[in-house]
Amino acid sequence: MSVSITIRNFAKEFETADGSRLRVLENVDLQVTPGEFVTILGPSGCGKSTLLNALSGLDTSFQGKVEIGRSAVGAARPRIAYLFQEPRLLPWRTVRGNIEFALDAARVPKAEWPARCERWLQAVGLASFADYFPLQLSGGMQQRVSIARAFSIEPELLLMDEPFSALDEITALRMRQLLLSLWEADRRTVLFVTHNSLESVYLSDRIVVMKSGPNSRICDEIGLGHLRRPRTYDDPAQYETQRAVLATLMRYV
Ligand SMILES: Nc1ncnc2c1ncn2[C@@H]1O[C@H](COP(=O)(O)OP(=O)(O)O)[C@@H](O)[C@H]1O
Ligand SMILES: [Mg+2]
Repeated sequence: MSVSITIRNFAKEFETADGSRLRVLENVDLQVTPGEFVTILGPSGCGKSTLLNALSGLDTSFQGKVEIGRSAVGAARPRIAYLFQEPRLLPWRTVRGNIEFALDAARVPKAEWPARCERWLQAVGLASFADYFPLQLSGGMQQRVSIARAFSIEPELLLMDEPFSALDEITALRMRQLLLSLWEADRRTVLFVTHNSLESVYLSDRIVVMKSGPNSRICDEIGLGHLRRPRTYDDPAQYETQRAVLATLMRYV
């Protein structure tokens, strides 16, 4: 099961070092349908992470409406996985221990843990590394563990905040392929943040563009229904589209 997202008239202010208020975002409106892969593309500092924080429930001090909707009435809180630029693994726990920590937090019954660890470590190609500690793995492998951890709780919503931007180009490319292959199996709703236009085109069903801040908001939208799935990185149509996306982005930065 996956969920919809409704953001209406969202605004967020921070207090700055000199005590004044900085209005980072205002009039943000976004609707995401269940199973859709939407990318937020915008320049650094425009408020992308701020918006994801509000969606994740980490930040509750904003104005406007943020709703994660389910069709089933009375169901429990939606399961959300949140991925960041850094893997954010617990260094004192093994790979398996890190996944179990997330399963425990998501209240997955203990009897299911071995199968879930096995399945998702297999899916990211790290089945034989379950007993390694994070520091014994490369950065790319650590990020794969964080992807396995995210999928292991069977999230209804994946929030991804520039998860591949710290990786080298080849690793990032492989990681995008891996993400799409996992996503295509059961199409969870994804809200993916990036400032990389090519990445946004390769991954998503739709791109929403944010302008530079302050007072940033979503100012444009580009549908990618014309690009066939499964995506391949060498599809010429993607590069054509990227040029158009980049031209749009540059109008707002
Ligand atoms: N906790 C905070 N306190 C004050 N200002 C913040 C805080 N978090 C973010 N900001 C400011 O809000 C703006 C948007 O930040 P952020 O959402 O991290 O941007 P992005 O993710 O798009 O790069 C920036 O100007 C940043 O300095
Ligand atoms: Mg950010």
